[in-house]
Amino acid sequence: MDYKKYIASLVKVDGVSEEEICAAIALPPNSQMGDYALPCFRFAKVMRKSPVAIADELAKSVAPDGVISQVSAVNGYLNFKINKSGLAREVLAKIAEEGERYGSSDVGSGRTVCIDYSSVNIAKPFHIGHLSTTVLGSALYKIYNFLGYRAVGINHLGDYGTQFGKLISAYKRWGDRDEVEKGGIHAVNDLYVRFNNEADEEMEREAREYFRLIESGDREANELFEWFKSLTLDYVKKIYERLDVHFDSYAGERFYTDKMGPVIDELREKGLLKESNGAQIVDLEPYGMPPCLILRSDGASLYATRDIAAAIYRKNTYDFYKCLYVVAYQQNLHFRQFFKVLELMGKEWAKDLVHVAYGMVSLEDGAMSTRKGKVVWLEDVISKCVEKAYAVVNEKNPGLENKREIAEKVGVGAVIFGALYNNKIKDITFSYDRVLSFEGETSVYVQYTCARAASVLEKAGETACQLTDIAEPGDEEFEVVKSLAAFPETVVEAAEKYEPSYVARYAVDLAQKFNKFYFDCKILTAEEGVKQFRLALTGAVLRTLKNALGLLGIGVPDKM
Ligand code: ARG
Repeated sequence: MDYKKYIASLVKVDGVSEEEICAAIALPPNSQMGDYALPCFRFAKVMRKSPVAIADELAKSVAPDGVISQVSAVNGYLNFKINKSGLAREVLAKIAEEGERYGSSDVGSGRTVCIDYSSVNIAKPFHIGHLSTTVLGSALYKIYNFLGYRAVGINHLGDYGTQFGKLISAYKRWGDRDEVEKGGIHAVNDLYVRFNNEADEEMEREAREYFRLIESGDREANELFEWFKSLTLDYVKKIYERLDVHFDSYAGERFYTDKMGPVIDELREKGLLKESNGAQIVDLEPYGMPPCLILRSDGASLYATRDIAAAIYRKNTYDFYKCLYVVAYQQNLHFRQFFKVLELMGKEWAKDLVHVAYGMVSLEDGAMSTRKGKVVWLEDVISKCVEKAYAVVNEKNPGLENKREIAEKVGVGAVIFGALYNNKIKDITFSYDRVLSFEGETSVYVQYTCARAASVLEKAGETACQLTDIAEPGDEEFEVVKSLAAFPETVVEAAEKYEPSYVARYAVDLAQKFNKFYFDCKILTAEEGVKQFRLALTGAVLRTLKNALGLLGIGVPDKM
């Protein structure tokens, strides 16, 4: 139940809407005062009275019921106490009934959200810079699906551009089929790096010619291109599998080759194209932006041209409610520009395009540069984290079975959670020790809490919990109950703000509250009625933490 909404429906103030009242309701700093509070000074103007008088008057007009046990006026605030056992009963019953669907809803039913994320570049390294887009996009994908939307995951492959000409040129010079087949994407990348280090005028010219051959449909050039592409995709798909990341479409930039012509015609018809030094542009000066380049002077299309064609294609194909682009903030201008061009073309849905921008991830121990080949591959970060997780798990509990499997969940989880925990726009420095700490705000901490809850439940054996006569929960218990009740609204807010970090923070918060309860209250040795309630609470926490981590793509080991 959404308590704020419920309370707002009880309080009537002429001239103030229920939504406004709901938005004003806050959590008091001290739960002795109440569980929710409505500050009344904001109604002083419409009601022409002092906040103290208003609170007194409203307190008399709201009668306690099964949900609200007490209403009181204190210094211009209207304080509400919730019927604690009523809430506990309701939340536990809901979680028991909904299980892995707890927190889901159907608010999005009938709506499609396209999410463009990860969007790797073919034949280039899949490096730590792709971590955030991959895990943020994937979490949003899961969150939207959980809320009843149809999410469409799109990997807008970077498979267009002169680098493919360079690759073919490098391969023809130095490459060996078996070696590349064996070395996969790393061998392909080595060729690319070598080209960039050694290329002279002549090789650059050759590379442009090979690119032209790909474009004009030359068989050999296209076969090589497709081969490089499949080597890259085979490689990244293994990483996606480890991270539990899914896509519904791999339509990359090249897919739009034959879809740009009509866009250019439309731009021209609408009088939006201008010539500038031989190139075709859309002037965006009135909007305070540099021009959006549509065609280069040699007639070649650009990144923005393909994005405009892609947006139109997505609208026609999926009729999206929103189309999200999970891309680093460095590309802010690019998105503002092509969104504007679509708006100028009269696409009223341009307002539904959202650039979900995020900050940079760097590693504690090193900078990186793509061109010279000094990159940190994402795969290596994951493997290193899993290795370290193995050592940590082994130290803590050497007798465990399936230590490898557990270490995979812990290590992969730590990489994902490390990238998701902070507000997405922040730059972050990735530290192995920090993300793998049992103490900090980490997935390891949450997973360990789950293992603790699971072990309590296991020791209890079969439980037949009678939730009908729950005694008034104590403070620690009630904090857990309230946190459990807040999960569904947390998921909704995470989607509204495009912030999976809300779910990550929620999981840590619930785990902390559970641990406080666990250390302060006996569970297995409590008297029977209390024991049943505490076991049910423990089960509900485990279920909800699993649901929360699941939305981020993180699994929970049974034991740790
Ligand atoms: N491949 C691009 C890059 O690595 C990201 C593409 C993002 N998506 C888009 N529709 N522009 O920078």
